[in-house]
Amino acid sequence: MEKDKIILCMGSSCYSRGNRINLDLIRAWLEERKLQANIDFKGQLCTGLCNHGPVMIINGHVYENVKPANVITLLKNALNEKVSG
Ligand code: FES
Repeated sequence: MEKDKIILCMGSSCYSRGNRINLDLIRAWLEERKLQANIDFKGQLCTGLCNHGPVMIINGHVYENVKPANVITLLKNALNEKVSG
């Protein structure tokens, strides 16, 4: 089975506007659900969408304006088909 892919923009704009916190929240969420082995989670340099950041990409789909308040809801919805809970 192909792994789900989460990419978080670690460019300075996204990082300082929320992805620094989103990074910790996503890590904790994956750990809590023991999903680290099933999901490929990594960071990348500036995605070129700074004005719309913080940016997160899930399985090729770009999510903009990802705030700590909505990052987990967004993850759950995006991975809904494969992840329960
Ligand atoms: S820093 Fe994330 S799009 Fe530029």
